[in-house]
Amino acid sequence: MTRRVDFTYPDDFNPQWHSRLPEFACAANAVSLMMPFAEPYVVKSVRTALPHLEPELASQTREYLAQELQHHAQHRRFNDLLVADEPGLARLERWMRGVFGWLHRSRSDAFNVAFAAGFETVAYTSARWTEARLDKLMTGADDVAATLFLWHLAEEVEHKTVAFDVYQAVHGKRRTYVAGLITSMFALAIFAALGTAFLLYRKGRFFRPVAHWRMLVWTVSFTFELLPAMAVSTLKGHNPAKLADPPFFKLWLRQLEADPEQLPVWSDLDA
Ligand SMILES: [Fe+2]
Ligand SMILES: [Fe+2]
Repeated sequence: MTRRVDFTYPDDFNPQWHSRLPEFACAANAVSLMMPFAEPYVVKSVRTALPHLEPELASQTREYLAQELQHHAQHRRFNDLLVADEPGLARLERWMRGVFGWLHRSRSDAFNVAFAAGFETVAYTSARWTEARLDKLMTGADDVAATLFLWHLAEEVEHKTVAFDVYQAVHGKRRTYVAGLITSMFALAIFAALGTAFLLYRKGRFFRPVAHWRMLVWTVSFTFELLPAMAVSTLKGHNPAKLADPPFFKLWLRQLEADPEQLPVWSDLDA
């Protein structure tokens, strides 16, 4: 489903938007920085398959592409505030543009769609990981910034099957899927780590043991969520439709559909 959303930020918006867990804002901002480069690559990749799809999957794919286009447009606006606050991030953005552009130009259509399917596996797992610790992570966060990330994750859950179904429909080789999945995991992990380390340093958190302890806890718990999900996604007969969705995101989207003018604030919802 395509929804129009528009995030606006006050003039005094603080790019370090989490008073209680500043490290979480650093990590989330690093992930956000990637979106205007990774998601357009995913969109271009999946679009190449459109002419070869059955009408129903083609229609789901168009909705999926529209969602992804909106995600990276909203992250672009958010990221402009981050880069204005920390101009050094522009160099990291240039590296991201280079890497995702190079993948798009140099890899086969099959690999690129496999990357997209793998990217969606990582995105869906991120949603599950976040939902499992929503209160811990979001209490103390700025409502608009938290809502940007939760809206994005909610739509990632909603379209979790599409890129995988497209890959199965037009290419389907498991070996290429594994290559795309591993590449997407490494690209996301490396850029997330670089962006987070840079922001922790710039925000004066890099030399604080508590910052490293929190990053370690999040990294280990996320890895334990991600690696099994990645392994399962490579099994014969797997389809993401078989995975149980975290309920919070469906509730959040239902609330948004009830009143499209009002973006629901996560803390007002009873998950
Ligand atoms: Fe997205
Ligand atoms: Fe997605």
